[in-house]
Amino acid sequence: MPGVTVQERKKLTGYDFFREVLGSPKHVVAPMVDQSELAWRKLSRKYGAQLVYTPMINAKMFAEGSRKGYREQNFNITFGEEGGPEDRPLIVQFCANNPEQLLASAKVVEPYCDAVDINLGCPQDIAKRGHYGSFLQDEWDLIYELINILHRNLSIPVTAKFRVFSTVEKTVEYAKMLERAGAQVLTCHGRMREQRGHKTGLADWEKIRAVKEAVSVPVIANGNILFHSDIERCLAATGADAVMSAEGNLYNPAIFSPAPAPLLPSASTDPPIPSTSAPAASADPSPRPLSSYLTGAHPRHTHLALEYLSLVNAQRTPTSPSAVKGHLFKLLRPALARHTDLRDRLGRVRIDKADSAAAWTQYADIVRELDARLEEDVCAAEEAGRGLEACAAWDEAAGLPVLPHWVAQPYFRPLPPPEEEGKGKSKGKGGKPGREVEPQREMEEKRSAADGSPAPIDPPAPLAGEKRHPSDRTPEPEDRPSGDEVKRAKLDGDTVAGAIIHA
Ligand SMILES: Cc1cc2nc3c(=O)[nH]c(=O)nc-3n(C[C@H](O)[C@H](O)[C@H](O)COP(=O)(O)O)c2cc1C
Repeated sequence: MPGVTVQERKKLTGYDFFREVLGSPKHVVAPMVDQSELAWRKLSRKYGAQLVYTPMINAKMFAEGSRKGYREQNFNITFGEEGGPEDRPLIVQFCANNPEQLLASAKVVEPYCDAVDINLGCPQDIAKRGHYGSFLQDEWDLIYELINILHRNLSIPVTAKFRVFSTVEKTVEYAKMLERAGAQVLTCHGRMREQRGHKTGLADWEKIRAVKEAVSVPVIANGNILFHSDIERCLAATGADAVMSAEGNLYNPAIFSPAPAPLLPSASTDPPIPSTSAPAASADPSPRPLSSYLTGAHPRHTHLALEYLSLVNAQRTPTSPSAVKGHLFKLLRPALARHTDLRDRLGRVRIDKADSAAAWTQYADIVRELDARLEEDVCAAEEAGRGLEACAAWDEAAGLPVLPHWVAQPYFRPLPPPEEEGKGKSKGKGGKPGREVEPQREMEEKRSAADGSPAPIDPPAPLAGEKRHPSDRTPEPEDRPSGDEVKRAKLDGDTVAGAIIHA
């Protein structure tokens, strides 16, 4: 191929690469558009993430460098922080449908990351129009070329993140093709292309296990990780080398950290509780006690939010306003549902791009005020001698525990309304049918902003004992992205929101 330089030195592959370059990571933060940005990666690493992906970058736009600022906004080389010493190991993800464009883009980031990943999982309409992500799933020759050109021409490995097919056999055949093409690590998201929006349902860990057994390169399992305890369950059920978390990490960036010793739950006398957080591949549908969910760290979310804002402030690389806002709303969600005045104030902060530090200060002031209010609740619980476990309630609708409103914790979707039951049911085995966990609300919001369709809106988190239902929806400020939050982009003739592409 013209212009292509063949690598001169032998690069590490497969498990050698996984061990020696990546350090055998078990805890991986997913690629997340507008959310796995530099500051968030730093926060996640501090709390136990051992490998982090960048948000997906559009290879066509990155290669052309035609849209002003696209490169710098998506991977900032100027300040040397992205892919710098504090930001490794790092995998940069692209979506692409043109091998030459993909290679040109990968060459730009090659010196600043440990591998380049290809997004083969995005299930959104925008990916269909743009012809990438999971919509390449049926074009195996093209996928082979995309992977193979990087495999042959980069000095670092190429990896791939993909969704499963409806059958184990086809999924395994597909994974083997990705490996043959040259992918040195495979991330298997145990959901099918059709599993999105209200049909998200559960990931199928059995398919991930089958992939792991069929290939020789390391496999990262993705899907159904809500609580820290799900990590070991997933590793055991799938045999995977590592676990990747997207939404679990956004709501609790400490999801990979074990609970601090004094807070470890007692060997509990709790009544057993049916497990629904990740039953898809679990051969063991037996009830789980509440304490079994509480093996991980759940720091006070206001503290995490302040830490995140300090990271945003301290670095020279700019952070997109929509990323900051999105993180704050997700992190603080359990408490903002009670302190709606502060939620409104957060939503009203306007960000002047020329002076974003002023907005970060306003955010920090609001977070501190929220923290002061929460302090009263924390003190009351402490005085009553009530720890995390004693303060936890049970969300009957989701079949999962709700932790006290001052700690970072997973967000899970309610049951679909009765008339929709049956349409979007999980196909997972061993779980309660219809218990759905929806990880991709963001995508819907941003997609709707691009499509002009109404954004999906969530109700406030339930207070202990309250039930949630989709019809309870009330608008929240963060659900209405402003014009400047929606990154307009051009991909193959489509005007799209650059921040909406997920796998
Ligand atoms: C906000 C958000 C952004 C995402 N962006 C990407 C992306 O850029 N590339 C990608 O491959 N997947 C993306 N995804 C999908 C996740 O990487 C992951 O595959 C999916 O959410 C399932 O993992 P989970 O169950 O841990 O959330 C995104 C998901 C979310 C919630």
